[in-house]
Amino acid sequence: MQFKLSNGVIIPGIGFGTWQIPADQSYEATLNAIKNGYRHIDTAYAYENEEGVGKAIKDSGLKREEIFVTTKLPSHIKTYDGTIDHFYQSLKNLDLDYIDLYLIHAPWPWSNVGQDCTQGNIEAFRAMIDLYNKGLIKSIGVSNFRPENIEPLIKALNFVPHVNQIRFFIGNTQEDLVKYCNEKNILIEAYSPLATGKLLENQDIKRIAIKYGVTISQLAIRYCVERGALPLPKSTNSERQKANLDVDFKIAKEDMDVLNNIHNPELDRPLRS
Ligand code: A2P
Repeated sequence: MQFKLSNGVIIPGIGFGTWQIPADQSYEATLNAIKNGYRHIDTAYAYENEEGVGKAIKDSGLKREEIFVTTKLPSHIKTYDGTIDHFYQSLKNLDLDYIDLYLIHAPWPWSNVGQDCTQGNIEAFRAMIDLYNKGLIKSIGVSNFRPENIEPLIKALNFVPHVNQIRFFIGNTQEDLVKYCNEKNILIEAYSPLATGKLLENQDIKRIAIKYGVTISQLAIRYCVERGALPLPKSTNSERQKANLDVDFKIAKEDMDVLNNIHNPELDRPLRS
């Protein structure tokens, strides 16, 4: 299973999410994930685990082109030079010579959610386009962006991001944003596809999972794929890593309708917890 970005780049259909994997566990967790079949790893400078992830990729024995690596520009970096500098720092941390996908982590610093950083985002994205044109990044995008954050980039730089990585799971699907991205051919990547584990007790979802003979996690991950969103499940447990990749089934329309209408007000907010 794979997705194709608007620039033709192929991206493996389920990524291994490393948010909240501490630095001292990231090597083992990522190496296991690769052994268990993941060919797409999602990290970020801000996760402080790029070194472990990079070392695992090296030690996996896979060729560089066999693995798709995403990392992200820290949310408080909003200048051209800062972006170039942090990109090279990530490259060094990961010990790689190119990145498959590089994202602006958020439209504003996490310490000041909602701040207007339009000009800074344009500068950061301009730097990313230059790195992309040099072949140092194979695809570029954003994360946690709303249409009003994306539009100025397109207008100023005449470049549509390839990806928007957002908090997306059953009951929290940000429909207006998804519609906008679909229209612009921006791939949605779903972080926290299990709502960081909080979906796992939902009885409505459980009922449907039982019907398909799968776990709630598998149903929740497959749900993203059915919605055209690329899921990034995180697990440090080898068995759960394997199970989360084993989602080769179809969810019938009537069940998708039920899942699309599940609404969990406690979890229905656009950003990470
Ligand atoms: P663990 O790492 O111990 O497996 P999300 O991907 O939405 O961020 O969710 C991650 C959380 O869900 C983690 O706490 C992870 O714990 C847990 N998790 C991941 N996969 C499964 C699974 N297949 N079954 C149960 N819990 C899971």
